Amino acid sequence: MARVFITGSSEGLGLLAGQIIQEEGHAVTLHARNDARAADARAALPGCQAVAVGDVSTLSGMRAVAEQANALGTFDAVIHNVGIGYQERRRDETPDGVERVFAVNVLAPYVLTALMHRPRRLVYLSSGMHRGGTPSLDDPQWTTRRWNGAEAYADSKLWDIVLAFAVARRWPDARSNALEPGWVPTRMGGAGAPDDLTEGAVTQAWLAVSDDPAANVTGESFFHRKRRSPHPATRDPALQDGLLAHCAALSGVTLPPMT
Ligand SMILES: NC(=O)c1ccc[n+]([C@@H]2O[C@H](COP(=O)([O-])OP(=O)(O)OC[C@H]3O[C@@H](n4cnc5c(N)ncnc54)[C@H](OP(=O)(O)O)[C@@H]3O)[C@@H](O)[C@H]2O)c1
Repeated sequence: MARVFITGSSEGLGLLAGQIIQEEGHAVTLHARNDARAADARAALPGCQAVAVGDVSTLSGMRAVAEQANALGTFDAVIHNVGIGYQERRRDETPDGVERVFAVNVLAPYVLTALMHRPRRLVYLSSGMHRGGTPSLDDPQWTTRRWNGAEAYADSKLWDIVLAFAVARRWPDARSNALEPGWVPTRMGGAGAPDDLTEGAVTQAWLAVSDDPAANVTGESFFHRKRRSPHPATRDPALQDGLLAHCAALSGVTLPPMT
């Protein structure tokens, strides 16, 4: 039995992945932004081991979630599923001065990766939209570019793959992978989304717990349990190191080296 932690899992793909993983006999810890949403998560998955609580748009919320997770021990797998977007009308900053889409979609997975006891498997949620992202650290906080919510989301999902691959390089003993779930009808995806909802959650569950040799790799990106080539820039070690340095500068948290 594996112990799996899933961020942003009070509803949507994270909750669905939790349901799939629990049905397969594993222990699932969910994560919600506040106590009310934690109660919703518990009601939706009554057998879950625990629900960590914290708004991961803020650094204090990220730290609080990492502390709660660490108090529960070391997880076998962590699924970095939390996400917002993809069409915010205006640029918004968190109380820490970080552009909000970047804070939730990129900085939160970075900080949780760095602060949580290291799992054997790490799974990062990207999107097919990452292919339209800009692989440049010239203006990751959208301070000089004219705001475009869809592009900011696409950038954040590109950074999620860059982060997964950076972690794979940094921690070769772990399995760190990314995936595209398809465009599926969650609150984010919208009721008219064309792809299969369950299929959208299966790959994150599979990467987290399956013994299938195809899932036991590192530094890869997937779509529906098959490898799918990501934007080529995600393989660039300089871009990976640049993202880690940017996240470290924003958060004051450094990704530990392999020990
Ligand atoms: N749906 C799609 O078509 C699609 C396509 C490609 C990629 N993805 C990716 O899949 C992942 C899950 O998306 P989804 O469609 O399941 O989205 P969703 O239905 O909107 O669910 C998002 C989850 O994240 C939580 N969350 C958001 N901001 C948070 C914060 N600051 N602190 C704590 N929790 C927070 C939400 O909690 P609340 O309910 O309290 O807000 C909710 O539980 C995301 O990374 C997304 O980018 C989705």
